[in-house]
Amino acid sequence: MPKVTVSVRRFTPESDAKPRFETHEVEVGDRASVLDALFALQRGPCPDLAFRFSCRVGMCGSCAMVVNGREQLTCSTLVKNIGTTLKIEPLRNLPVVRDLAVDLKPFFNSYNRTMPAFVPRADLDHNTFYPIPHASKEGRRLNDQPQCIDCGACYSSCTLVTLNPRYAGPMALNRALSLVVDPRDSRRAERLNMVAGEDGAFRCHTLGNCGDVCPRGISPTHSIERLKRLAVLDQLSRPFKKWFSQAACSAEKFSKPLP
Ligand code: SF4
Ligand code: FES
Repeated sequence: MPKVTVSVRRFTPESDAKPRFETHEVEVGDRASVLDALFALQRGPCPDLAFRFSCRVGMCGSCAMVVNGREQLTCSTLVKNIGTTLKIEPLRNLPVVRDLAVDLKPFFNSYNRTMPAFVPRADLDHNTFYPIPHASKEGRRLNDQPQCIDCGACYSSCTLVTLNPRYAGPMALNRALSLVVDPRDSRRAERLNMVAGEDGAFRCHTLGNCGDVCPRGISPTHSIERLKRLAVLDQLSRPFKKWFSQAACSAEKFSKPLP
């Protein structure tokens, strides 16, 4: 079985003055993931090593860490694709709970500030489905990027979050776009106000780190650019609101509701 040298960052805030790296050699299988290397450490020299995981198939987002300087889902990253030396650290921009486990509160607080829940318009019948066909005008406006799994990799990689922790960050803004462009949602104006605010989309300097590390292939930078354009158009159109309908659609414009 191949041997790999693994350096892990250890830190218990209650008892350690500062973080340290511990380095060990472990044996892993040919198709071992980075997460498997962490299990090997736990079974061997570091039985008390703390880290998060759940699904182990790249779906839940809980195993994201910084591996050799880059955010990765450790369950979906093969050791053989990285090399024989691994340096594993917790996600950046978040407080460490212990070792490789971080406190995700700041990440989800930013998410909550963008009002991430869908709120249906009052004029829609709540007992009726309003599907939006992909080929329709509304469908083309919707965010067509893959589904986010809330792993935090983009938040960790974002330099603007490092500089200003109040900045909403890539994942929250990506979610905001998917609701802003949904014609069935009623809180478009409030969402755009948040997006146009001091801690919103205009903080983004289009560095693109978020898209580079996203395990789902999402480009939050692209969503943020769209949000900036929509926020500017919204501000410019406000004096003329009586001529511009809010989401340019009404219930009648949807395709025939499902029975
Ligand atoms: S946008 Fe990508 S990197 Fe960011 S939380 Fe979602 S899945 Fe993770
Ligand atoms: S453990 Fe769920 S994504 Fe890795």
